[in-house]
Amino acid sequence: MFDMIIPLLYLFSAILFILGIRRLSKVRTANSGNSLAAAGMAVAIVVTMAIVSGGAAWPYIIGGMIVGSIIGMVSANRVEMTQMPEMVALFNGFGGGASALVSLALFFAAFDGHKSGDFLMTDFADIGTVSSGISAILGLVVGAITFSGSMIAFLKLNGTIKGNAFQFPGRNAFNALLTVGPIVAGIILCVTPMPFATAMTIMLAIAAATLIVGVTATLPIGGADMPVVISLLNSLSGVAAAMAGFAVKNPVLIIAGSLVGASGLILTMIMCKSMNRTLGGVLFKSFGSTSSSNDGYTNITESSPEELAMLLEDAERVVFVPGYGLAVAQAQHATRELADLLQANGTEVRYAIHPVAGRMPGHMNVLLAEADVPYEQLIEMDEINSEFKTTDISIVLGANDVINPAAINDESSPIYGMPILNVHESRSVVVVKRSLSPGFAGIPNALFDGDNTIMVFGDAKKVLTETIAEFKENL
Ligand code: TAP
Repeated sequence: MFDMIIPLLYLFSAILFILGIRRLSKVRTANSGNSLAAAGMAVAIVVTMAIVSGGAAWPYIIGGMIVGSIIGMVSANRVEMTQMPEMVALFNGFGGGASALVSLALFFAAFDGHKSGDFLMTDFADIGTVSSGISAILGLVVGAITFSGSMIAFLKLNGTIKGNAFQFPGRNAFNALLTVGPIVAGIILCVTPMPFATAMTIMLAIAAATLIVGVTATLPIGGADMPVVISLLNSLSGVAAAMAGFAVKNPVLIIAGSLVGASGLILTMIMCKSMNRTLGGVLFKSFGSTSSSNDGYTNITESSPEELAMLLEDAERVVFVPGYGLAVAQAQHATRELADLLQANGTEVRYAIHPVAGRMPGHMNVLLAEADVPYEQLIEMDEINSEFKTTDISIVLGANDVINPAAINDESSPIYGMPILNVHESRSVVVVKRSLSPGFAGIPNALFDGDNTIMVFGDAKKVLTETIAEFKENL
C-alpha cells in the first residue's frame, strides 16, 4: 500500500515544483510560487525520510537538516539585496557540491568491505547497474565543476578576485582534457574489475581534476559576462542533481534537478541574448575588461542637486535609469518620491529597465516593486530605446555599463555588441554616481564626456533627497 502511495506523493511534490516555478515568473505571484515549491520540497523530504531503510540514517539526515536550515535562515535574514547574487552563487555551488558528495558516497559504499582482490563496481547493490555508475560519475564531474566554479564566481562578485578576464594560453584545450578525461576514466571504472586502491585513486583523481576545471573555466571570464556564468552554473547545479537522482534512483531528485537545469539554461540563453553574446563566446573567448582607467575624461560638466531640481521643474518627459548603484544606495524609495512630485507637477515619468542592470536577473524590477513603483511605468529596453530621442531628461541612478555607448561605437570595447539603453539620445542626461569610477565591466564611459551630459556626484539616495527638498522649496 505504502509502495503505491510513494510515487503518487513524489508526483504531487513534482507538480508543486512546476506550479511554483511558473508562479516565480511574475513579481506579483513570486512569493506564492516560492511557498508552493517549498511545500513540494517538504513533501519530498518527508517521503524520502520514510523510505530510508530502517531509520538508522535518520540522526545524520536530521542533524544535517538542522545545521543547514540554521545556516540558511541566518544568512537569508542577514543578506542585503545588493549581496543576493553572491548568495545565489553560493547556493549554486553548495547544490553542485552536494550532488558530487552523493555520487562519491555511492562509490564509497560500494567499495566498503571489498578492500581485497579485483572487483567490479557495478556488481554492488548501491550502484547496481553500469548506467547508475555512469550517472554517479557524471553527478560527480558536473557537481565538482559547479562547486569550484561557483566559489570563483562568488569571490569575483564580492570583489575578492578582480573582475578582469584572466587568460592563460591553451586554456580551452586544458579544460576540455580535464573534463573529458575524468568522464572516460569514470566509465572505465564502471565496466572494468580492479583493485580497491586503484578504483579509489581514480575516483579521487576525477574529483580533483574536475574541481580544477571549475576554477580554470570560470577565472578567465570577465566581469561583464558574470551574469551569464551565474545562470549557467545554476543550470549545471540542476544537471548534477538530476544525475545524482539517476544514480540513487530517486524520481523526485531527477525531476527537481531537470527543472533547475532546464530553467537555468533558458535563463542563460535570455541573458546571452540581452548581452548580444553567444554562450560559446562567453565560455571560450573570455571577454573581459581591458582597462580600469578613470582618466581621459576631458569634457565633464559637474552640477548639483539644486540645479537638477531646477531642470526638472520644466521637463515634460523624464526617464529614470536605475542601475546597481541605486541598489547600493537603497535609493528606490527616494526615486519614487521624486517621481511622485514630478508627476504632480505634470511631468510624464517612466523607468528604463535593462535586463542585466544590477547584479542579478530582475534586480531593478524587484527594487522598484519594493517602493511600489507602478508596473506600467517600468519599460523594457527594446520598447524605451526608441523613445529617448523625445525624452527631456534621463536621470541615470548608479547605472554605468548598461548605458555605455562604447557598446555601440567602440569595436575594441569588451562590451561591444551588448545592447544598451540609448540614454545618450535624450535631450539632457543627468548621471548620479559618486565618482568617475567604472562599473562592473571596469571600462571608461564616454557618456560622461557628452555635451548633453551633466554629472551630479554623490550617493544616489543623498542626491535624490536633496533634489526633492530643493524641488519642494521651489514649487
Ligand atoms: P555598473 O556598471 O556596475 O555600475 C554601477 C555604478 O554604480 C558604478 O559605476 C558606481 O559608480 C555606482 N554606484 C555605486 N554605489 C553608488 C551609490 N551609493 N550611489 C550612486 N552610485 C553608486 O551597474 P549597471 O549599469 O547596473 O550594470 C550592471 C553590470 O553588472 C553589467 O556589467 C552586468 O553585466 C553586470 N552584472 C549583472 C548581473 C545581472 S544578472 N544583472 C550580474 C552580475 C554582473 P561610483 O563608484 O562612482 O559611485
